[in-house]
Amino acid sequence: MNNFEFKNPTKIIFGKDTIKKIESEIPANAKVLMLYGGGSIKKNGIYDQVTKALSNFDVIEFGGIPANPEYDTLMKALKVIKDENISYLLAVGGGSVIDGTKFLSAAAVYEGDTPWDILTKKVRTQKGMPFGTVLTLPATGSEMNSGAVITRAETKEKLAMGGPGLFPEFSVLDPQVITSIPERQLVNGITDAFTHVLEQYMTYPIEASLQDRFAESIMQTLIEVAPKVIKDPTDYKPAADFMWSCTMALNGLIQKGVPGDWAVHMMGHELTALFGIDHARTLAIVAPSHYKYNFEAKKEKLAQYGERVWNITEGSVDDKAYAAIEKTEAFFQELGIDTKLSDYTKEYEGTAEEIAKRFTERGWKLGERQALMPEDAEKIVKMAY
Ligand code: NZQ
Ligand code: ZN
Repeated sequence: MNNFEFKNPTKIIFGKDTIKKIESEIPANAKVLMLYGGGSIKKNGIYDQVTKALSNFDVIEFGGIPANPEYDTLMKALKVIKDENISYLLAVGGGSVIDGTKFLSAAAVYEGDTPWDILTKKVRTQKGMPFGTVLTLPATGSEMNSGAVITRAETKEKLAMGGPGLFPEFSVLDPQVITSIPERQLVNGITDAFTHVLEQYMTYPIEASLQDRFAESIMQTLIEVAPKVIKDPTDYKPAADFMWSCTMALNGLIQKGVPGDWAVHMMGHELTALFGIDHARTLAIVAPSHYKYNFEAKKEKLAQYGERVWNITEGSVDDKAYAAIEKTEAFFQELGIDTKLSDYTKEYEGTAEEIAKRFTERGWKLGERQALMPEDAEKIVKMAY
């Protein structure tokens, strides 16, 4: 196991009917900006629960943060923060609203002229404006980590940011919120969380047995609850396992002491930026090709995953590793997620070259050994056409 430091300051408030508890988490004298998305919270009762809990606070609302939170929209929210002397942010939504709120937390204290530089110049926020979250969609883990991904439609860019000052102070996780989530978003959440585990696990053996088993157990739990959650999102038990698995998949714990890959996400983000494909679906497109292309470097972990998660017991390391990739792709497909770029767009020619060009311009070398060059990304994306 590699040396590591681990600190996660986010307080998790988990369980049935917990949204009302935000009242005692936000400082009494705060001037609150409540941020949300396109309006799902107004139909499913979450808005009412939150506003009731905030009835003793000075609150301004900002709705309309789109999926893949858009820089232009967030700049309007930043103006409200400055004009209204906001001191506390409350995100009520999925990864997009929470990520947008993290950007605002950073931008509110940023001293440069152009907040977009936070993304392009990789500014690490040491202390942002404080914020909490009410999670409405299990998927990204953003509710308990310090990263965010922001989109700019004007330039077709989607870039990541973060810093130790961007953990939520608290996050409320009430699994009952999933009852209103459309199936498309439920399967996205399962796929995204599953791939988060893969990114931190599917590297090379490093004898971090506990980390491996944490990772495997999250994947096993997701596989087990997926059909139940899809069949009946009102069933509380699988909903609770699903929600906690998504949080645990990307709250920093399983990445400590082990190498991380993240190349699937980096290529996937480009597919969202170029075509608007849902985040999770881009991962299902890229992951099978990525693992096939990097087979030699990853086959030991692939075989271990095959054995322990998919019960593949027959054959050589190569056989098990290959079967594990097939199982993974089949899992995504059984969820109803297409795994080829051509399933989403007919305009895919040239995509691999464009992504390689962008990675070259940014000087990116990806993967757990920083050895995945732009020309490798080009080949992987082509395999995924
Ligand atoms: O906008 P509203 O009307 O609220 O509808 C949303 C949205 O259309 C809807 N929804 C959310 N909760 C609901 C609900 N509908 C009914 N009932 C509910 N309870 O779901 C749609 C998708 O929401 P969104 O927040 O975009 O989804 P998700 O949580 O998957 O977030 C995706 C974003 O997170 C980023 C992605 O790149 C993408 O931009 N990620 C953030 C990460 C992080 N911060 O750690 C890591 C991830 O890898 C990912 O990159
Ligand atoms: Zn993701």
